[in-house]
Amino acid sequence: MASSLPESWTDRLDLDRAHVWHPFTQMLDHESDPPIPVIGGEGCDLLLANGDRVLDGISSWWTCLHGHGHPKLMAALERQGGKLDHVIFAGFTHEPALELVSRLKPKLPPNLTRCFFSDNGSTAVEVALKMAFQAQAQKGQGQRTRFGALHMGYHGDTLGAVGVGELDNFMTGLFRPLLLRCERVAVPEDPRYELLASLDGWDEELDAARQRIQSFFEHHGTELAAFIAEPMLQAAGGMRMWPPQLLVEIRNQCDRHGVYLILDEVMTGFGRTGTFFAHSQAGVQPDLLCLSKGLSGGVLALSLTWATEEIYGRFWAEYSEGKAFLHGHSFTANPLACAVACASLALFEEQPVMADAARLGAAMRSAWGNFVGHPALRRPRVLGTVAAVQLVDPATGQPHPPGARFGWRLHRRALEAGLLVRPIGDCLYFMPPLCTPPARAGEAVDTLLKLLQ
Ligand SMILES: Cc1ncc(COP(=O)(O)O)c(C=O)c1O
Repeated sequence: MASSLPESWTDRLDLDRAHVWHPFTQMLDHESDPPIPVIGGEGCDLLLANGDRVLDGISSWWTCLHGHGHPKLMAALERQGGKLDHVIFAGFTHEPALELVSRLKPKLPPNLTRCFFSDNGSTAVEVALKMAFQAQAQKGQGQRTRFGALHMGYHGDTLGAVGVGELDNFMTGLFRPLLLRCERVAVPEDPRYELLASLDGWDEELDAARQRIQSFFEHHGTELAAFIAEPMLQAAGGMRMWPPQLLVEIRNQCDRHGVYLILDEVMTGFGRTGTFFAHSQAGVQPDLLCLSKGLSGGVLALSLTWATEEIYGRFWAEYSEGKAFLHGHSFTANPLACAVACASLALFEEQPVMADAARLGAAMRSAWGNFVGHPALRRPRVLGTVAAVQLVDPATGQPHPPGARFGWRLHRRALEAGLLVRPIGDCLYFMPPLCTPPARAGEAVDTLLKLLQ
């Protein structure tokens, strides 16, 4: 096939500027700072068109687990491509979807027995919200028209998911008139994940948070269909690592008040936080579980919403009763994506992926130790293979003013130095693929320290 692309990257970027609208981007920024052309990926590195190799320190938006272009994942894709590319999933089924279910089922809490496929994190959340509401309505609890959520949460960009996220983040406040009705409660960040944090007063703070959760449910318990949370780590909210004890409290309160618990492991799933799923660190079982991103090893768009038998049972009826879950997407359970997801899960069995991730996490923790006491950084913290720190102006000790675009400038300068980081507001984080050699964590920290000077 002859390429219709212009020869030079200069002309190609003109084409991009003329027609492409990039996600989460003020497009005016690209007039002075055009998007960076990427031509390849190898392991934990991305290869840029200018010949540079950069460490993918954000796992390409938290997706990539085993590295880019992993031969086993690419082979699975090619094998499946030779058999079946896609087929409608309403009324049909196929091997890759069934193999994925059978590989994943033993890794889940035993109460989750029913799996609904969709194709990105936001849709996994939409499905969970709709299932929870409909299940409540079909058991005679139609007055439960609201959702509960955590302050500083993030669950995606479709309107349902925006409605249960933190409203004043990411320009979502604008959509307020269009959104679901949601009540929010705050959880504190857990100082035990911080390097050298003081634990003074922590027990009291934890107790106060527990009481806040109890009174939240006393107040709203009868009107909530479900409560949604990102277990252990509120990622887009600024890498907020929160205490597992409070997740236990939320689970207890949900049980007490007949509220379903939705756990959104779109980002935390598949080994990121030190365990295969983050919620197992709290020992709780959700009623609905949302998975995406690392599900396919970060290669293709795929997501799952797992539900309990009790929820599934609420939809089980004669057709004429109109109780079916009437939701679906064109690319539901795409066989190519399912085949790659199976290959990704197989790698967890065949290779010491979790042990390698533990070594990487330990190296990150030790490298992040170099940030302790740095005048431009505050509260270095690590959970599994996610490391974060707050950026401050050394002159004031306060976050840089948003207009200074400090995070954006750091992102661009770091790329020139061979490292992809992309701060969220004043939170600088590092979350490379699980396969990243531990020594690269130290290199990344050295690069950041040089740039901060
Ligand atoms: C916890 C969480 N839920 C949902 C989403 C939305 O996923 P997607 O971007 O695939 O729609 C994200 C994305 O970052 C996320 O971090």
